[in-house]
Amino acid sequence: MRAPVRAVRGGWPAAWERRAPRLFRTDPRVLLEEDPSAEDFRAVMSIIHVGETIKITQADRHAPADALLRDHLDLAGATVVDIGASDGSTSVDLVAKLPDLGSYVIADLYLELSAVEVGRHVVLFDPHGTCVLVAGRRLVGWPSLSRVVRVLAAPLVARARRRPARPVLLLGPAARRLVREDPRVTTRVHDVFQPWTGPAPDVVKVANLLRRLYFGDEDIRRALRVLFAGLPEGGHLLVVDNPRVPGIDVRGGLYRRSGDCFVPVAQTEHPPEIADLIASPELVRG
Ligand SMILES: C[S@@+](CC[C@H](N)C(=O)[O-])C[C@H]1O[C@@H](n2cnc3c(N)ncnc32)[C@H](O)[C@@H]1O
Repeated sequence: MRAPVRAVRGGWPAAWERRAPRLFRTDPRVLLEEDPSAEDFRAVMSIIHVGETIKITQADRHAPADALLRDHLDLAGATVVDIGASDGSTSVDLVAKLPDLGSYVIADLYLELSAVEVGRHVVLFDPHGTCVLVAGRRLVGWPSLSRVVRVLAAPLVARARRRPARPVLLLGPAARRLVREDPRVTTRVHDVFQPWTGPAPDVVKVANLLRRLYFGDEDIRRALRVLFAGLPEGGHLLVVDNPRVPGIDVRGGLYRRSGDCFVPVAQTEHPPEIADLIASPELVRG
């Protein structure tokens, strides 16, 4: 982001907002609301930077890649783990398409942030205590992305650190409803670089997390080896990305753990960005 500060929608004359909409962002304080609209919630997700990544997501963005699961696997009673699921919008889509599913885990390293209100400002911290966003009535800024913003926001952030924080669940309204109403669906904080310790998954889905815009190849390989180790023989990995490439909405690849490598099972018209790393015979053998 070239200028890590933006104007907050509703905080300035409407004519300015109409004239330069790209400079405006949805007020992040909607995260503190009891019942935010799905649209506002998703808009705020798209401006939250955590670790190396952004929480950007959207419903109905994986359909052709998700179809690989339905078309090639029998998932009756299966356990699916969705790592890096963000607000769960795409998890809600997939669960709806797999009626016979046994269980579905919506997993993300950043399922929750801490929010502190200081006057009219809100300061958001990630679970490691890093300040990821500050917002007032008029401006929103990203201290973790800019030294200048960090310095300017330092007094506010220091005050926030001395006050009690409240947890902010980063699950969207539809995913919250699903978790409440469908006992097969649960959430879990999980780091894709760490071994999976829950019940062995039959399928692991990783979408828009192991991307070259976020991580180097060595880190992606490291995560892939951990995913491989967490799957039983015959288990599957679904990798999905939505590239900003004209004419390509989504790319997906389905891989089976077989012996000491991932074997490609099926892919969308275009393979996922990291297909070369996944199918490399050296991935696991080193
Ligand atoms: C771009 S979003 C992808 C959301 C969704 N899968 C999709 O495709 O629409 C990336 C997500 O990965 C999560 N994430 C970042 N680092 C992670 C890690 N080390 N382990 C697990 N999740 C992580 C972020 O919190 C964020 O929700």
